[in-house]
Amino acid sequence: MKIFAFALREFDEEKYFINICSQLGIEYAYTNAYPSMDNIDLAKGYDGVTIITNPMYPAILDRMHENGVKYLATRSVGYDHIDVNYAHSLGMKVTNVSYSPESVANYTIMMMLMACRKMTYIMDKAKVQDFSLKGKTGKEISDCTIGIIGTGRIGRTVVRHLSGFGCRLLAYDIVESESVKQYAQYTDLETIYRECDIISLHVPGLEENYHMINKDTFAKMKDGVILINAARGMLINTNDMIEALESGKIGYAALDTIENEAGLYYLNRETDILANHDRAILSAFPNVLVSPHMAFYTERSVQDMVENAVRGLVACEQGGENPFEVR
Ligand code: COI
Repeated sequence: MKIFAFALREFDEEKYFINICSQLGIEYAYTNAYPSMDNIDLAKGYDGVTIITNPMYPAILDRMHENGVKYLATRSVGYDHIDVNYAHSLGMKVTNVSYSPESVANYTIMMMLMACRKMTYIMDKAKVQDFSLKGKTGKEISDCTIGIIGTGRIGRTVVRHLSGFGCRLLAYDIVESESVKQYAQYTDLETIYRECDIISLHVPGLEENYHMINKDTFAKMKDGVILINAARGMLINTNDMIEALESGKIGYAALDTIENEAGLYYLNRETDILANHDRAILSAFPNVLVSPHMAFYTERSVQDMVENAVRGLVACEQGGENPFEVR
């Protein structure tokens, strides 16, 4: 079998890709360039292609299909950047990966703590030698009621780890998990909005979740609520969030992901003028943390992402049960 990797980072992913392909006897090639209509022909004659968060739209999928590519693996959990229905209509199989949920769960809890303790503001002020206390009083996470929306692998891990802080935990999901019930009480979304001091999103970027957090849901939340998003930007209506920040409804927002981040993350754009108003406005609030979709980024997760992408492609070729296939 032959696999081509796009956007493969030489400084962290390459070694895992070479190792797993060699171990499994796979012929491979790669580029660190993002896939585009200009370079997609590099994958001509390969059975499988792996990408990461790069938009896969009909024209590029058509070209891959014409070039004989049968399988497409994203080295991410989310696959909202792929037109999966279109790929399927071409007979192309699509896979995603699983990786250590601790990576995102740890980062989420770090953001909660930073939000509770106004950490970005404290650090900004310390940089200009303002070591005063006024305006920097924090709240103790242990005193908070925390709502976890979505209790898949990441949400469940967040719940388990948070239980150590002694906070009251509420959870919502359409499918309830027995392990979560040891630490948290499942309830409806209305109760989460009404009772929680901190709300953390852990649901996938599916169409039905688009803008699930909007002006109507903000209206139901506590004044000064802390909102955490390490899942997908599209879950929150950004304009409504900006209004909720301006009115003081949101006390702090910690956003590892925002709408319209494609084309920014993971590129060095330091000398570019960026046409992304939302990011500029959000970053300007002293009570907002905007990080560049880094929650996943640990050595262990990177290894899992690369290896499981290759395993998913191999399982497509072998047929039979494939735990990574997106149906
Ligand atoms: C995912 O795996 O779905 C993520 O959110 C991380 C990815 C953007 C690299």
